[in-house]
Amino acid sequence: MKKSKDIYILGIESSCDETAASVVKNGREIVSNVVLSQIDIHRLYGGVVPEIASRNHVEVVDRVVKLALSEANLKLTDLSAVAVTYGAGLVGALLVGVSYAKGLCQASGLPLVAVNHIEGHICANYLTYTDLQPPYTCLLTSGGHTAIVNVLDYDKYDVICSTVDDAVGEAFDKVARVLGLPYPGGPQIDKLAQTGQPVYKFHSVVTSNGNFSYSGLKTAVINLVHNAEQKGESLNNADVAASFTVTAIDGLIERLGDVVKESNAKTVAVAGGVGANSYLRGKMEQFSSQGLRVCLPKLALCGDNAAMIASRGYYMYLNKQFATLSLNACPTLKLRGEKPK
Ligand code: KG4
Ligand code: ZN
Repeated sequence: MKKSKDIYILGIESSCDETAASVVKNGREIVSNVVLSQIDIHRLYGGVVPEIASRNHVEVVDRVVKLALSEANLKLTDLSAVAVTYGAGLVGALLVGVSYAKGLCQASGLPLVAVNHIEGHICANYLTYTDLQPPYTCLLTSGGHTAIVNVLDYDKYDVICSTVDDAVGEAFDKVARVLGLPYPGGPQIDKLAQTGQPVYKFHSVVTSNGNFSYSGLKTAVINLVHNAEQKGESLNNADVAASFTVTAIDGLIERLGDVVKESNAKTVAVAGGVGANSYLRGKMEQFSSQGLRVCLPKLALCGDNAAMIASRGYYMYLNKQFATLSLNACPTLKLRGEKPK
């Protein structure tokens, strides 16, 4: 039952291969959260095929949104706004969610809120820790972005460092592919690495000016595997996965340690798909022993979902940051303050 002072935001997310809709109450409480993944379809091709993703979003978006509303036991008229991801992501996929949300707002008169997907990932923390408030330092680790960000306020970010080439999730997926593991590779590498030892040493992913570079690590793993193949030697894939994981994550943790010290942060959070990685989550404990509060989003909220979009939408709604019905998708959208590569 809706109380008049409560604010319910419908979130819609379709930036990649998940069609998702969710209703969130007052920015913090998930009332419904529907995520329809296309992973099984894209696995056949070893990665996301943009055109197939768009077509599938078109087929299911209406049902996914209706399900989110019915599971929340709410009608459109109970909502305060519709929040939709408009970037970053695949342009065709984004356009499905954006067009659907615009239609819904046109028909209902509800305000439209245009959400940056990356900012959404950060908000997954508010849904897990309902008392969490800025400022805090956030390690952003997704398939498309890798950065350390000081979250100064709900709407104010200071991007301290970021990747100069591939994102960490992208590196997980590419290394998985070379090891013959199915898409998406991150969870597969995670599982395999737990049975291996980090016997191979790779160069750090931290660059001389404190950013990250994953293309060198990716190439080093590919060369290791190909050289072994050419010599007819067999590698222990679990050891390769463990060695890659340790190098990929230790650099992030090392830089996070520097940033936390420099900014005198009291709280440190993680966001994005790689935030589900068990080695990374274990490593974050070192900040607890240093007396910091450590926030790790629930596993189900690390990957793409619409609850995080609705949570972000709530804070934009409070600031009356509304979009017009001429909203377009922005596939290369950056986090505010992020420098172009
Ligand atoms: O944040 P996300 O769901 O999508 C983007 O916005 O990009 O991140 C997806 C990425 C993929 O690269 C996936 O392989 C990776 O997150 N990932 C993981 C794990 N679960 C998902 N990487 C490492 N370990 C995991 N357990
Ligand atoms: Zn994402």
